Amino acid sequence: MKITVINGTEKHGVTYRLKEMFLEPFRGKAEITEFYLPKDGPGFCIGCTQCFLTRQDLCKDADRVQKIEKAMIEADLLVFTSPSYVMHTTGAMKALLDHFGYRWMPHRPLKEMFGKRAVIITQCLGAGGRSTAKDIKDSLSWWGVSYIKVCTFKLMSEINWDKLSQKKKAQMTSTMAKAAKRFGAIDYSRKAHTDLVTKAKFYAVRMLQTGLGKDNPEYTDYKYWKANGWLDKTRPWKAA
Ligand SMILES: Cc1cc2nc3c(=O)[nH]c(=O)nc-3n(C[C@H](O)[C@H](O)[C@H](O)COP(=O)(O)O)c2cc1C
Repeated sequence: MKITVINGTEKHGVTYRLKEMFLEPFRGKAEITEFYLPKDGPGFCIGCTQCFLTRQDLCKDADRVQKIEKAMIEADLLVFTSPSYVMHTTGAMKALLDHFGYRWMPHRPLKEMFGKRAVIITQCLGAGGRSTAKDIKDSLSWWGVSYIKVCTFKLMSEINWDKLSQKKKAQMTSTMAKAAKRFGAIDYSRKAHTDLVTKAKFYAVRMLQTGLGKDNPEYTDYKYWKANGWLDKTRPWKAA
């Protein structure tokens, strides 16, 4: 089993602890690849739109983006983590997600994302854990991932792990252990179920691409959808 982890911060703080608790039962059993942002991530998207219009490898940050994408394609399970910064995900995580705009369903989604599983771990001091998770979930779901578990926490008064109450630590440890147990029990040789919302998005875009292709058969996204057979009978959530 392969797990790819994208950490929205390099800090070994509370978010890091929560992620470590989740990974603990997988250590020694799964091949785990981790990226720490911003260190391992791309710079900011400058809006050149080469990825959307022509080829993703023309992006100034292509090397780092494609390395992360490769690790995500190969993974059975994706793990995203982020503390809440001003009610949202960290700037470093947003910078990465912007680079995958071209993988949103209306453009060129990866067939490998349909049927993949993901866990999003976020936490905050008082408010913003959920909106932080939503920032990440919006991208994942538009990439085609529909099996997404969110684990989010509020610390309330203390942000230093060592100073948290035993009760709070126990509650966080137990939640992460339960999530790990649930994901450890999955048979990863089988794709996760793709839900109706994801399928509805796919069919809406399929109609859009069919129309765009009539206007311009050379349109990049249309050619991609056609080459994948998605304008015919092939569906990305079905085994090839
Ligand atoms: C720039 C910045 C913005 C923050 N914004 C929020 C916020 O909007 N809501 C909140 O509850 N906590 C906020 N916090 C607190 C962090 O979410 C909190 O300290 C968290 O535990 C940090 O996680 P870490 O220990 O993994 O770094 C912010 C912290 C920083 C550094």
